[in-house]
Amino acid sequence: MASESAGPGDSSPADADAHARRGPGLDTSVPHTARMYDYLLGGKDNFAVDRAAVKKVLEAMPDMPQSIRLSRLFLRRAVRYAVRRGVTQFLDIGTGIPTAGNVHEVAHELAPDARIAYVDHDPIVLTHARALLSGEHRDRVTIVLADLREPEKILATPEIRDVIDFDRPVALMLVSVLHFVRDDEDPYGLVKRLWAGLAPGSMLILTHASLDPDPETGLAASAGWANASSTMNMRTYDEILRFFDGLDLVEPGLAATWNPDGEPAEILERAVRNIWGYGGVAVKPPAGAVPER
Ligand SMILES: C[S@@+](CC[C@H](N)C(=O)[O-])C[C@H]1O[C@@H](n2cnc3c(N)ncnc32)[C@H](O)[C@@H]1O
Repeated sequence: MASESAGPGDSSPADADAHARRGPGLDTSVPHTARMYDYLLGGKDNFAVDRAAVKKVLEAMPDMPQSIRLSRLFLRRAVRYAVRRGVTQFLDIGTGIPTAGNVHEVAHELAPDARIAYVDHDPIVLTHARALLSGEHRDRVTIVLADLREPEKILATPEIRDVIDFDRPVALMLVSVLHFVRDDEDPYGLVKRLWAGLAPGSMLILTHASLDPDPETGLAASAGWANASSTMNMRTYDEILRFFDGLDLVEPGLAATWNPDGEPAEILERAVRNIWGYGGVAVKPPAGAVPER
């Protein structure tokens, strides 16, 4: 499991290849977004092709790892935010290779009965997540191979429905994944179709990469994903806000640093200069209620 205090290049490449060379469906000929992200977080589950792509990203945007860590901090805070408000079911799409502070670990600290369904379209994620999810979690946590671009299929998946009761509120987590969906794949429509399947009181927990500080740099960094399993599609603040159209965004709204419960600030938040991404949370109002904005 990756430690978030490590950085890209902290593990020996040979070790990393040896460690990563396992599991079905591994394609080492193209960079995979999950493995690139793992490397950016200092993990070992990546190959030379992934590291070469990350090198290109970092040449353009050396501070991208900071933004990724901010997104992970947001994820942990948002999970605790949801649990504190009684939402203890999580549908986490675009899970990624397990790293420090996985959703089920954070949720179970506050609510041991919390139920989590992980979804990713990369088989390497399943291999690692299944190894992590021992028998003790089996009734409360599942991991499924599925694609965000097929929302109805996700909502109908029996393994997910065994763990998640869709008649009760669910926290839909789309953390650092929607920027891998191109405009022509209708990312806004996909979120709406998932949201439509959730009960009142459900939450949308979302982060997204942004090129706002410097579009030229944003595009140069995005080119690192040009030949990867998914391309990077950074969006502006307003474009990211559109994902929340018609929903009740909780305070402080869509933000670079997000801390509604006043948790102790982390050094990372004070040190960050360029904001290459934003996160926000919305709550689904009762049927028939009029949203505030
Ligand atoms: C940048 S990682 C984010 C991981 C995790 N959510 C986090 O924030 O740490 C993006 C993950 O989304 C997955 N992904 C990308 N496109 C996807 C899709 N269309 N359907 C499901 N998963 C997808 C990738 O395989 C990768 O594991």
